[in-house]
Amino acid sequence: MGHDRSGAKQPDRFDPARASILDDTGRFAYVPPAALLEALAPPPSSTLLDFGAGTGLYAVEFARLRPDLRILALDEQPAMLEHLRSALAQAGVLNLAAIEPPALAALGGSVERILALNVLHELGDDALGALRGLLAPGGAALFVDWNAEVERPFGPPKDHVYGPSEAERRLAGAGFAVVGRSAFAYHYALRAVSAPFR
Ligand SMILES: C[S@@+](CC[C@H](N)C(=O)[O-])C[C@H]1O[C@@H](n2cnc3c(N)ncnc32)[C@H](O)[C@@H]1O
Repeated sequence: MGHDRSGAKQPDRFDPARASILDDTGRFAYVPPAALLEALAPPPSSTLLDFGAGTGLYAVEFARLRPDLRILALDEQPAMLEHLRSALAQAGVLNLAAIEPPALAALGGSVERILALNVLHELGDDALGALRGLLAPGGAALFVDWNAEVERPFGPPKDHVYGPSEAERRLAGAGFAVVGRSAFAYHYALRAVSAPFR
């Protein structure tokens, strides 16, 4: 299974054989979960959807740090969902659920915050449109991804990912308005809302 990736910068899907890379807690040194939550600023008791959650490393941290939130961890690859479900079971957190793409149909227009971490470069136009359609009125999405414009000792090759301006243009073309810009050591972060009049 999988969506049409046309429009994606890197049309290859993430290889689940490399899932252990995602589980490296060393990642927290350069993209701290608490900093992501600060940038997302989810209202109390709201829903936060981790779009392309992979193995759930970050989703589990969010659930621990913010027990008031309902965290939904979405992935489209069955092999990643298996990792995700076992991470959830081990973590024993009650406010976190793994979901598959068909579950999105029931969530349209209802999600207050969405995180897409290391995912924008993989998303086709259809998936990006679907992500936007999930946002509740007043909702916001945070796109955090490897920055093509910084030298990095690891992460995907530069030509597989966006620089911040290029990412912003891609988001604008998909109906988002970027309302906040920040950066981590190797990543850009763009806070986006659904643009009016679309
Ligand atoms: C590079 S991994 C990042 C995972 C996670 N966000 C992290 O940083 O640990 C990208 C993940 O996004 C998932 N993905 C890509 N496109 C997706 C889509 N349209 N819907 C759901 N998941 C998607 C892939 O299956 C993969 O697990």
